[in-house]
Amino acid sequence: MTTQTTQTTQTTQLSPPSPDKNLYEQIADRIQHLIAEGTLQAGDRLPSVRKLHSQWSVSISTVLEAYRLLEDRGLITARPQSGYYVKAALKVPSEPQQSCPPPKAHHVDNSLGFRVICAIRDSQTVRLGAAVPSMDLLPIAALNRLTGQVLRQHQILAHAYDLPPGYEPLRHEVARRLMDAGCSVTPDQVVTTNGTLESVFLSLRAVTQPGDTVAIESPTYYGLLEALEVLHLKALELPTHPRDGISLADLEVVLQQGKIAACAIVSNFSNPLGTCMSDERKQQFVELLAQHQVPLIEDDIYGEVYFEGTRPKAMKAFDQEGLVLYCSSCSKTLSPGLRVGWAVAGRYQAKVEQLKWVINQTTAIVPQMTVAAFLANGGYDRHLRQLRRAYQSQMLRMTQAICDYFPAETHVTRPNGGHVLWVELPPNFDALALYELALQQQISIAPGAIFSPSGSYGNCFRLNAGLPWSEEIDQAMQRLGELIRQQMAGRRIWSQKVGG
Ligand SMILES: Cc1ncc(COP(=O)(O)O)c(C=O)c1O
Repeated sequence: MTTQTTQTTQTTQLSPPSPDKNLYEQIADRIQHLIAEGTLQAGDRLPSVRKLHSQWSVSISTVLEAYRLLEDRGLITARPQSGYYVKAALKVPSEPQQSCPPPKAHHVDNSLGFRVICAIRDSQTVRLGAAVPSMDLLPIAALNRLTGQVLRQHQILAHAYDLPPGYEPLRHEVARRLMDAGCSVTPDQVVTTNGTLESVFLSLRAVTQPGDTVAIESPTYYGLLEALEVLHLKALELPTHPRDGISLADLEVVLQQGKIAACAIVSNFSNPLGTCMSDERKQQFVELLAQHQVPLIEDDIYGEVYFEGTRPKAMKAFDQEGLVLYCSSCSKTLSPGLRVGWAVAGRYQAKVEQLKWVINQTTAIVPQMTVAAFLANGGYDRHLRQLRRAYQSQMLRMTQAICDYFPAETHVTRPNGGHVLWVELPPNFDALALYELALQQQISIAPGAIFSPSGSYGNCFRLNAGLPWSEEIDQAMQRLGELIRQQMAGRRIWSQKVGG
């Protein structure tokens, strides 16, 4: 097993110039890379603000903003009358390997997932278990103002049924933003829904029959498993690498065997692995499915929350045959509670619209109007920049805390977007026991077993980095580290006794 190191080739490269990043963020990224490389070491004094201003030809306020961002990321600290200093070496943990699930379709029973999520939701815990953004990071005041405006402007319409495909100005905004994901979609190809999960549910229902098998990433989002269960579908887990995504070789084998009716994945910064395939692999993936005429349900809920470069392409961008059913929402970027989502279902659109009508007739119009107004002129891009900055800082803080507090055998993902981390411990570790002990101490985590229909990943868990870093979270991470060490020490003593 590889141990934690302070350097990798991934972090030594300067990030590509990003049109979506402000100058101060690019400067902060460059300094972060210098810390990762070891050019700047713990305790080193950073160049003074004036010096960097003249050496790098940027304004004083830009340097100050960059230093503030590095403080947010927990990498540097300001000493009064003295300047800015590197806090600690940047630690880069080793990542989990490609998963290796059993090559067999499973009936899904994810009642454990539902129990776990209810416990996490209801308790007064440090919420590291549910993948929810902090309300402090969302533009709640602006959305509330817009809701008021909408109600005043549309006093009658606000109470009307809004038949599928849904509110046209929202569909227009969705189609416009999908251009950034490489998709050419018209507003009439979009249907609005009550969130991504409804889009996924309708899409699965549109392309499968009970008893069919659906190929999925392993591990995968537990909400997808719950949808498969309710629709009486079987799940075939495919080996998945945290960086490269689903194994195309394994996908090809199951396609050739004609075993699967559909494939369902989270395409960008997946939950829980944080995977984002390259464009090349995305294209191969879509083409492979098209050769076998197998539809793909694409959940792209995290696509706009990337940390480097530009927005990653959607799988839909490579869809020549209308076989990709694209699903997303504003739950991770604006408001999970407004329940505004959408689907672009290609050749299955009429079916999805009909199912939407049968299942719950319409999507409530006021939230759709509010979100449409925000997307049109609420400063969405500015908000996204702030949100990405916050998620990136929080992910970094959480990764550093894992390196500091968890045992050296820990592996953790290093996603370039989203806000969840997947933690893997040695094979005999019991993450469900950890979950229960942690919950007693008011800390929630999501145990690995809920992300797999075959009950794999008993030694893993998922952490939410969607919350602003705080003393409380730092202490919770320390406590988790202690609980992990205690369990591992107990197992070592036990196996020594059994062994002799
Ligand atoms: C991958 C993924 N898909 C869907 C959802 C649910 O999205 P929504 O609230 O838009 O239904 C989540 C929420 O955590 C998620 O992580």
